Amino acid sequence: MQYFDNMPNILPGRVMMASCLNADRNTKGWLLAIAAVLSLGSHPTAADELHRLVRLCEKCHGEDGYSVKPEVPIIAGFSREGFHETMESFRRFKRTALALRLRNLPDEYLRMNEIALRLNDDSVTILADYYSALPFKPALQEADEELARRGAAIHDKKCEKCHSENGASPLDDAAILAGQWTPYLRRQFDNILGGKRKVPKRMLRAVRSLSQDDIEALLNFYAMEGKVRAPGTWTHETTR
Ligand code: HEC
Ligand code: HEC
Repeated sequence: MQYFDNMPNILPGRVMMASCLNADRNTKGWLLAIAAVLSLGSHPTAADELHRLVRLCEKCHGEDGYSVKPEVPIIAGFSREGFHETMESFRRFKRTALALRLRNLPDEYLRMNEIALRLNDDSVTILADYYSALPFKPALQEADEELARRGAAIHDKKCEKCHSENGASPLDDAAILAGQWTPYLRRQFDNILGGKRKVPKRMLRAVRSLSQDDIEALLNFYAMEGKVRAPGTWTHETTR
């Protein structure tokens, strides 16, 4: 496995975004260049520059944010507002992310916290626009029907208010749960309960009221919701 939880020796300076993308330009210069190019709007290379930025995300989140790694969330279809808030949470360490080592960079560990700190506000805006315009496509995973039914009842009672449409709506700005990778979601429950991720007080209360069995039931419910929502049948645009 290439994954390591929260390497203690990660400092912002050790995370070399630039080295993934463009070895002959330092990170700051590279980001400034992107901002400058994109602010011209119709400049012919704007799309190329966005593509460059997306190529970093792709290394972990997969092509267009459709992650094929169960530990890494699918980010296509994330709400625009939620995306901005999430980047701010990473910057302020309200969420401590899993650190990953990339195959082609064996000595470098990357973590969302440092990546978010390295992105300037213009880059975050461009990326938020890009990923929120793509349709969410659920991960197709195994789910136990009996557990999923139990999970549905718990979700209805305790979670639907903020995670509407069975956790599939991005419009709540609370992330998409239906069809998100189960190992990723399971880790989020651990992080929330262990204090590694700060969430709204009402949500924390709701999550603290769950038993481990309830959490497993909910995870099966969200995985099942991903299966019943075949890719492409539910998009960001259709609910606007
Ligand atoms: C080194 C791997 C890696 C790279 C590169 C990376 N991410 Fe992530 N990202 C992750 C992981 C792992 C998580 C889950 C964090 C956690 O453990 O809480 C995550 C979480 C996120 C989330 C939150 C998703 C949710 O459901 O809450 C967003 C949004 C995101 N990343 C966007 C991006 C963007 C945009 C880029 C490119 C600029 C990027 N990421 C680059 C690994 C990566
Ligand atoms: C008061 C509104 C509220 C309630 C109630 C609530 N949540 Fe949330 N939830 C949120 C918000 C907002 C976020 C995004 C929070 C953040 O990262 O700061 C979130 C995030 C999450 C995440 C992380 C998703 C991701 O992609 O990283 C999970 C998992 C989750 N909620 C599960 C639940 C479950 C299960 C329940 C019911 C037991 C629940 N929530 C109840 C508001 C709520």
